[in-house]
Amino acid sequence: MTQVRTRLAHRVRQHDKHIITRMMDIASGLPDVIKLGRGDPDLDTPEHIVRAGQEALGSGATHYTHPMGMPELRRAIADDIVRHGGARYAPEHIVVTPGGQQAMFIIALGLLDAGDEMLLASPGYNPYIQAAELTDARLVQIRMSLETNFTLTADMVREHVTPRSKVLVLINPANPTGTVIPPDEVARICEVAVERDLIVVSDEIYARLTYDGHRAQPVAVLPGMRDRTITLSGVSKAYAMTGWRVGYFAGPADLMPALAEIHHGLAISTSAVGQHAALAALTGPQDCVEEIRRTFDERRRVLCAGLDELGIAYAKPQGAFYVYARVADVGIPATEFCERLLAEGRVMIFPGRIYGDHTDDFARLSLTQPVDGIREVLRRMSEVVVSIRTERSDS
Ligand SMILES: Cc1ncc(COP(=O)(O)O)c(C=O)c1O
Repeated sequence: MTQVRTRLAHRVRQHDKHIITRMMDIASGLPDVIKLGRGDPDLDTPEHIVRAGQEALGSGATHYTHPMGMPELRRAIADDIVRHGGARYAPEHIVVTPGGQQAMFIIALGLLDAGDEMLLASPGYNPYIQAAELTDARLVQIRMSLETNFTLTADMVREHVTPRSKVLVLINPANPTGTVIPPDEVARICEVAVERDLIVVSDEIYARLTYDGHRAQPVAVLPGMRDRTITLSGVSKAYAMTGWRVGYFAGPADLMPALAEIHHGLAISTSAVGQHAALAALTGPQDCVEEIRRTFDERRRVLCAGLDELGIAYAKPQGAFYVYARVADVGIPATEFCERLLAEGRVMIFPGRIYGDHTDDFARLSLTQPVDGIREVLRRMSEVVVSIRTERSDS
C-alpha cells in the first residue's frame, strides 16, 4: 500500500519533527514552565476594547461582515496609517484578515508564480518562509549577522536581486531580532526596489513598539513606493489583542481586488466581534499603547542586563518584544541549549533555526513575562549555564 505520507503534495516540505513540537512535548511533562517562546504578550487586552467586543456581541455582531472588513474599521485603519506617518489608502484598498498572518499567505498566493523569487532577511519571521514554500516560489534568504545588529541594507538587497526577483519582504521592526532598519537605509532599500521593479511587502506590525528613540519608517509613503508596496499590520501586538485575530493589508488599486478575492475564498470575512474590538482599539484612547510599549521596554532592559552578566551576546533590541541572543556563547549549539534550558531550567525559548538562521548559535527570548518572571528566567538560566560551562571545563 502507498505510504500515506507520500500522498502529501510535493510542495509540502518534509521537515523533521518540528523543533517547536519537540519542545512542546518536553514541556508537557514538566511543572511550572516559564514560557518566553511564542510572540504572544501576557498582557490583557485593554478594558475598553474588551467592553466594545462584549457590547458588539450583545447587539448582534454574530454574522459575516463585508468580505474586505467592516467599512468603518477600514476607514479607521486608513486614518491610523496616516496618523503614524504612512500613506493614505482608500478603504476599498484595505482588506481586514484573521490576523496579519493570513495576509502573508494571501499575498504570496496572489503574487508569486513557481520560480519567482521572494527575498527575506534571514533570520526572519518563519511563516513568510512557509508561504514561499507553499507557492513554489524560490525563497532568497539574505543572511544577517550580529556584527551589523542584523540590519538589512540596500547593498545586501542589491547583491541578491536577480531578474526573477519579484517580492521583497521587509519586517521592520524585525522578528526575531528586534532590529529597526534606520529610516535612511529604508529609503535606500526602496530605491533598489524601484530600480529593480520589486514589490515590497512591508510588515509594520511592530511599528508602534520601538525603543531608545528608534523609529520604523513606513514604506508606502517613500518616493515611487505607493504602487509597489503592500503594507501589512494588525492590532495583535500594540494592543495586546493576539487572540482576537484581526490584521490587515493595504495595497495598490490594481492588486487589491484579486487579493481580496483570495481572502474571501479563504475566510469569507474576519470575525465580526474581533473587528468591533479592533475598531475600538484604533479609535479609542491610545495611552494603552504607550503603556504596553513601556512595559516591554522595562522588561527588555532587565533581560539585556541579565544576559550581559551571563556573558551572552545579543542583538540590541530596538523594537518589537524579542531579544535575539547568541546562546551558543555558553559552549553548545543553540538548539541543544534550548532543549536543556527547558528540561533542566523549565524555561521555554525558541532556537534561531526556526527563523531560518543558517547558524545554530542564537535563540529568541520573547518579553512575555512580567519583570519578576524575567528575573526568575535569568536565575534559572544562570544555573543551566553554570552547569554546561562546568561540564565543558571538566571534559
Ligand atoms: C512579523 C510579524 N508579522 C505578522 C505577525 C502576525 O500577527 P497576527 O496574525 O497576530 O496579526 C507576527 C506574529 O507574530 C509577526 O511576528
